[in-house]
Amino acid sequence: MPTPSSSQHLPFGENKGADWYGKDIISVKQFKRDDLEYIFGVAHEMRGMVERIGTFDLLKGKILANLFYEPSTRTSSSFTAAMERLGGSVIPINEVKYSSVTKGESLPDTVRTLESYADVIVLRHPETGSAAIAAKAARKPVINAGDGTGEHPTQALLDTFTIMEEIGRLDTLNVTMLGDLKYGRTVHSLARLLSQFNNIKLNYVSPDILRMPKEVMDEVAEKKVPQAEFSSLEKVLPNTDVLYVTRVQKERFEDPADYEKVKGAYVIDPAIMKAAKKEMIVMHPLPRVGEISVDFDDDPRAAYFRQMEYGLYVRMALLAMVLGKA
Ligand code: ASP
Ligand code: CP
Repeated sequence: MPTPSSSQHLPFGENKGADWYGKDIISVKQFKRDDLEYIFGVAHEMRGMVERIGTFDLLKGKILANLFYEPSTRTSSSFTAAMERLGGSVIPINEVKYSSVTKGESLPDTVRTLESYADVIVLRHPETGSAAIAAKAARKPVINAGDGTGEHPTQALLDTFTIMEEIGRLDTLNVTMLGDLKYGRTVHSLARLLSQFNNIKLNYVSPDILRMPKEVMDEVAEKKVPQAEFSSLEKVLPNTDVLYVTRVQKERFEDPADYEKVKGAYVIDPAIMKAAKKEMIVMHPLPRVGEISVDFDDDPRAAYFRQMEYGLYVRMALLAMVLGKA
């Protein structure tokens, strides 16, 4: 793993005029190349600080409301860790069933309540568009931690940070997305975000019923990025620089019989990976439920556990930015 260059210093003063101060993070469409460079720079600094001193007081006194209407391990706990490593604190609402949501409280009312106590709200919700609805109701920044099958923008930011750290570039890449491209919000965000870079080729490998939505493909096509769809990995694997594997999103299927038909459609294992380059990476937003065999975990190309660690630094950077401390 490359180590960060720590030549710059974090700007510690609060800057209410900073570009991202008070902003919501709802979609990757908000981020241009320059923004990514900036975020990655701050994330590097965060990594260096965590490695050197662990916890520091950049966001001392600030409070994050972590509002999760859907299960989460990484996103929820990395936002908590990010806030606590920056000296702030967290109101965790991971079990909405114990909150007044169960009594029928609406999302806008819940968000208005939480912003009376917190400085920033992180929201995961099963409905596409829910983060935008919450952001409209709130005066404080709302960060989308996954809205149904819509987007997962902070995941795409940590995914691109991972590619940068592991491969060293975001231009001139052959990226293959595999699995559930219909319901997987991570690939919707990642395809959109990567489409701003030069000489990118996107390959989509999925069962027919789980193809990348037309809406996403149309947006990517507008940026003149070549896209190709396949039902098997065979043809594209040898030229792939980044293989992005996804879980079939069981919870999104209307008919459980359809899930049974496609679950286990693709499994990455050491034998299959013999056809891939030596210099490439395999990513997965996780959790995995069998799409990548554990036998592959020790392969240096298996980047998925490093990927989730990068998420901490990227989320520290995002919190510092929207709270005017970066
Ligand atoms: N954790 C990711 C998400 O929430 C991917 C997944 O659940 O499969 O979108
Ligand atoms: N990658 C991701 O969003 O993981 P969690 O669902 O565990 O938060």
